[in-house]
Amino acid sequence: MDIFHYFQRKPRILITGGAGFIGGAVIRKLLKDSECTIFNLDKMSYASDLTSVNKELLNLGLKNTERYRFMNVDLKNQVDTSNAVDFADPDLVMHLAAESHVDRSIENPKDFITSNIIGTYNLLESSRLHYKNLPNDRKNNFKFHHISTDEVFGTLGKKGKFNEESQYKPRSPYSASKASSDHLVNSWLHTYALPTLITNCCNNYGPWQYPEKLIPKIIINALCESKIPIYGNGENIRDWLHVEDHANALIKVLTNGLIGERYCIGGNEEKTNNQIAELICNYLDKINPKTFSHSSLITYVEDRKGHDFRYSIESKKIKKMLNWYPIYCFEEGIKDTVKWYLKNKNWYVKFMK
Ligand SMILES: NC(=O)c1ccc[n+]([C@@H]2O[C@H](COP(=O)([O-])OP(=O)(O)OC[C@H]3O[C@@H](n4cnc5c(N)ncnc54)[C@H](O)[C@@H]3O)[C@@H](O)[C@H]2O)c1
Repeated sequence: MDIFHYFQRKPRILITGGAGFIGGAVIRKLLKDSECTIFNLDKMSYASDLTSVNKELLNLGLKNTERYRFMNVDLKNQVDTSNAVDFADPDLVMHLAAESHVDRSIENPKDFITSNIIGTYNLLESSRLHYKNLPNDRKNNFKFHHISTDEVFGTLGKKGKFNEESQYKPRSPYSASKASSDHLVNSWLHTYALPTLITNCCNNYGPWQYPEKLIPKIIINALCESKIPIYGNGENIRDWLHVEDHANALIKVLTNGLIGERYCIGGNEEKTNNQIAELICNYLDKINPKTFSHSSLITYVEDRKGHDFRYSIESKKIKKMLNWYPIYCFEEGIKDTVKWYLKNKNWYVKFMK
């Protein structure tokens, strides 16, 4: 049975940020597992790439069909955003577009304020006007799903976990901009009755992730025999989730999540940066042996400003209410990811010039 069987016609889904790492995984899954029509809105930034989506379209024989449209739009532009929403005429909106790299937000916060806050505002307003004019049968199923991060809750000490009741305490320009966008989404729900939901997820990893993020950076630097930079003493802790497990969770929330609810999504896989670097290096020593151990490339560098010590997510709610469970265990997921980067040098080298 199609996951969108409760729609009278095949739903039209507007996905923002679909040329990014997580948006790409969501689109590939929706193309495979449903018959919905997808409108992928993305400004095609330095972090964007459509190879994985185009490959999936080819595999499924869906290239040049009505099921997928790409829209090169920057959410900062209100008129373009409004025109894109009118064109897509969506039944469902999944909002993933954001500037997403904490280090860049420290160097240049402005892009984060404009894309993540103003961009979300433009999308909310366009979606509100669109929703208002929908006929009742389409209104009943409409959802605006905002995809956010655990970083909005700030930092944890050695104990405790974030959950749906955690207070907002963002500490970087990135997390503050995402927190602001979460607040905007909530206020559009309460003030204008736009049917919204929010998810807050932990750190993701997997194939097709842009090389600047921690795990691809460790893998690629090890493969290139370059130094592997680790911040501070390497003891900062993150909870990790495979991107395909996140995509599954997002689709469960989109189809079965309740309006107005928040769902925290975690992998229950807390690791220090040191543990991750060691795991990757030891695995590369096995499958890609050199005359030296890959871990000899690990180099400690000056800590990130305001570096949050630990994040951890309690995912009881989504497990209980939506029967979502991650499939990947971290160690196996990392091994698959290392093998993927080993095989796909052609893909990542293009970002390294
Ligand atoms: N990567 C993670 O570990 C993680 C964890 C939890 C939540 N999230 C959230 O998930 C979402 C996707 O993250 P990702 O890792 O795929 O990021 P990404 O950087 O790989 O992709 C983001 C995409 O959004 C697009 N985008 C940015 N600003 C835009 C704008 N103004 N208009 C149109 N498109 C724009 C970019 O061009 C890019 O293609 C983000 O909202 C992020 O905050 C990410």
